[in-house]
Amino acid sequence: MCGIFGYIGKKENAAEIILEGLKRLEYRGYDSWGVAVVPTEDPNKNNKIVVKKRIGKIGDANVDELPTATIGFGHTRWATHGGVTQKNAHPHLDCTKTIALIHNGIIENYDSLKKDLVSTSHRFISETDSEVAVHLIEEYLKKEAFEKSVQKAFLEFHGLNALIALHAREKKLIAVRNGSPLVVGFGNGENYIASDAAALLPHTKDVYFLEDNDMVVVSDTDVELYNVVTGKKKRITKQKLAWDVSSSELGAYPHFMLKEIHEQPGLIVDISISGISSAKKLAGIIKKAYGTYFVGCGTAAYACIAASYLFSKIAKHHINWAVGSEFSYHLDFLTNKSLVVALSQSGETMDILESIKAAKQRGARIASLVNVLGSTLYRESDYPFLIGAGPEKGVASTKAFIAKLSHLILTAYALKGAVSKGSLLLKKTSKAGKQIVTNEYVLKLKKLVQRIKNASDIYVIGRGISYPASLEAALKIKEISYIHAEGLAAGELKHGPLALVEKGTPCIVYAPLDETFGANLAGAMEMRARGGYIIGISPKPHEVFDYYLPIEDVGEASIIPGVMVAQLLAYYLTIEKGYDPDKPRNLAKSVTVK
Ligand code: AGP
Repeated sequence: MCGIFGYIGKKENAAEIILEGLKRLEYRGYDSWGVAVVPTEDPNKNNKIVVKKRIGKIGDANVDELPTATIGFGHTRWATHGGVTQKNAHPHLDCTKTIALIHNGIIENYDSLKKDLVSTSHRFISETDSEVAVHLIEEYLKKEAFEKSVQKAFLEFHGLNALIALHAREKKLIAVRNGSPLVVGFGNGENYIASDAAALLPHTKDVYFLEDNDMVVVSDTDVELYNVVTGKKKRITKQKLAWDVSSSELGAYPHFMLKEIHEQPGLIVDISISGISSAKKLAGIIKKAYGTYFVGCGTAAYACIAASYLFSKIAKHHINWAVGSEFSYHLDFLTNKSLVVALSQSGETMDILESIKAAKQRGARIASLVNVLGSTLYRESDYPFLIGAGPEKGVASTKAFIAKLSHLILTAYALKGAVSKGSLLLKKTSKAGKQIVTNEYVLKLKKLVQRIKNASDIYVIGRGISYPASLEAALKIKEISYIHAEGLAAGELKHGPLALVEKGTPCIVYAPLDETFGANLAGAMEMRARGGYIIGISPKPHEVFDYYLPIEDVGEASIIPGVMVAQLLAYYLTIEKGYDPDKPRNLAKSVTVK
């Protein structure tokens, strides 16, 4: 979803600082961008705000033509209302060009607001709902102070929104949020506002995550916090980011996705130690609950499915799971004894936030495994747990998924009263993962890529804990290489999908050395008999495999090395096809709209 970055301070290259900030937000997905600044030296003394907007990616673009400025902001837009055009890109200006605004979210009543504004001679340039906001502020400014005008305009919006406004004659940025995330960064004689904390890391680790209905007035030396509804001043509780700059930078890697895949073995070991106390806490909460429901979207949903197998096999404990976007349609059974465990990397996925809101209305308690400190999910949860994977910038989730699985394995063992056994298993699993992120293994994968890169469809099958592995493997392949891939419960093949297997169709088969081994091989033979090209991911080779990708047997944790193989396969397929694995088309890192 859209990225926001604002600066106010003493440095006179505000435009450059802002553009660098937007580049650190590119991973969120966007299709146009723009920067607005208030010129420091204004020869005409006409206080006009200067804006540069472009469609497409920032790439090597610069903002050299923008004047020196110490205040401004920028935006990367992921189109919702209105097509991908320069006019629809943010920032938007009012009729006088002395007010600029950037916006995330959807102003659901923009139509009626726009009609009223047009009738009072406001001139609109874009097709966006966002532009309504800047003209509404302009209208209020005729009678009110700038802060009051922003507050009154914001309170007229229906829907979930976040915005930043600036005025040519006022040395301050005003930001308000209700839904889309915003975070303030505190510098020395300068301050920042961004849509996520990773963009602030090169400047500061002291941050404040805005809550819904927070309004901040940010000058170079001061940040004032108000409740936008009541206008009452609020105390700011700063937080210190635990991340360091390098963790959010590319380093020597060609893509964030590859870097994040390579970080996984180390991350698993970290969690095997640092995750013990939270695993015990979460296990205790689950034990007390009368019914536990794991919810997540996309990759996070597959972690929920994996949890149902892990808790059953390891702790003999029943948990339910649901896809976040579906949960609100079938959660009427929830009671005040129910526990909902939301899994989310960003903590801002609207489908999850809506689900937990509905669950809370029925009295359920909310736990969460989330990667972003201060995110909405983190703050809305009764029992928030950080997965501690560090900033994940590749749109295709990798290390956050493996981190969730690691925490879930540890929690399942804690529920069984054997958390140290879980910790040992994770340490062994980390070694299994290390064998995969090696040049030798990558060569094996690159050879396979040459064999399957032109496939139109790829099928992935598994049973038991390998069933969610097959779903996740298929998602990785399809969302970045754009080859259609389908993950299946192996037993479902003969109930229909087998009809699609033709000569040469690549069929990836997970065959861990557990009770599913024989049945998975049977599935492989069914596909082989129809001409399928069988790719076996297993601790053991087998003659039914046309191509064998070995993984170490780590029991219930075998899903981790198994999925890591698929992550790398998807990555190298994507590179071979000439696409960008970090920024797949049509997708965003955090889906903050329904
Ligand atoms: C994962 O590769 C996808 N990019 C997507 O399915 C993602 O997992 C999903 O949107 C949920 O995001 P979250 O973990 O931030 O809630």
